[in-house]
Amino acid sequence: MGYLGFLVPGMVPISCFSEVDQQKKPVAKTKPAQPIVISTWENQKANLAAMEVLKKGGSALDAVEAGVRVPEGDPEDHSVGYGGRPDRDGDVTLDACIMDAQGNAGSVCFLQHIKHPVSVARKVMEETPHVILAGEGALKFALEKGFKKENLLTPESKMEWEEWKETSKYQPVINIENHDTIGMLAIDGEGNISGACTTSGLAYKMKGRVGDSPVIGAGLYIDNEIGGATATGMGEAVLKSLGAFLVVELMRQGMSPADACKEAVMRIVRKQKHDDIQVGYIAINKQGEYGAFCIHEGFNYVVSSDLKTELLDSEFHIEAKEEKE
Ligand code: GLY
Repeated sequence: MGYLGFLVPGMVPISCFSEVDQQKKPVAKTKPAQPIVISTWENQKANLAAMEVLKKGGSALDAVEAGVRVPEGDPEDHSVGYGGRPDRDGDVTLDACIMDAQGNAGSVCFLQHIKHPVSVARKVMEETPHVILAGEGALKFALEKGFKKENLLTPESKMEWEEWKETSKYQPVINIENHDTIGMLAIDGEGNISGACTTSGLAYKMKGRVGDSPVIGAGLYIDNEIGGATATGMGEAVLKSLGAFLVVELMRQGMSPADACKEAVMRIVRKQKHDDIQVGYIAINKQGEYGAFCIHEGFNYVVSSDLKTELLDSEFHIEAKEEKE
């Protein structure tokens, strides 16, 4: 039983939250695939951290959390967590979500000062009756749960922001530095699928802007009977097409992960202005098959199994333009 839905005057609401309405239904088991991890961009270190969990018999959920915490904690990664590029006011604001094999989901958006938003998202999933906590509320919850308040703006990101302020031109760049949001999908030894997605969002975005990454069905979706999908790139385009959910539903209809990613990208291409934006999807199905597709050449993704970790170039809709001298 979860939230009661009414309050007796004087009752402390939080007491209603003590039993969380998480789904506990048994997870359907098919023949377990070999454990596998797939992530957006060149996130080999994140995949290795996730594989460590899986090799020890850990769950896909633990694996994806451990995996995406790597770029979240890396000050050299300027689009995720600590060291992420700030909004136009100079504040680093983070979006993240996580989804497990039972269909439980948790998310935080517009969260400041917490290095590992994915772990806060997991606490939202496991210890509240809600799916999304935003802004001040998410920060309050994180601090209550023992997360440390930190300054996430590194000197390097601060310097870049100060340079940006000289023109204040808001123009997201396709494939900027070849990395963006990390979305990660994993299948564990039991054949169960989970996913996580985390980002500092678009550099120099408006204060309060939230992208696709913390929105279940947009930046990430898992259906343990079918597979999972996650997105990177221009969140506004993904949000308007509910991309990750679309990819999973297309796989449900029988498409391969690669074809489903392509069709979801082409939905954006057909319905939205797309010349100057990147969107990339990666997906995995219950059999452990995977694929990717993006609008513009240049998106890559990394796949890890027991045997190897491989960086693969995504198929694309539009070739990269030749650099003009
Ligand atoms: N895909 C990340 C964002 O748009 O914030």
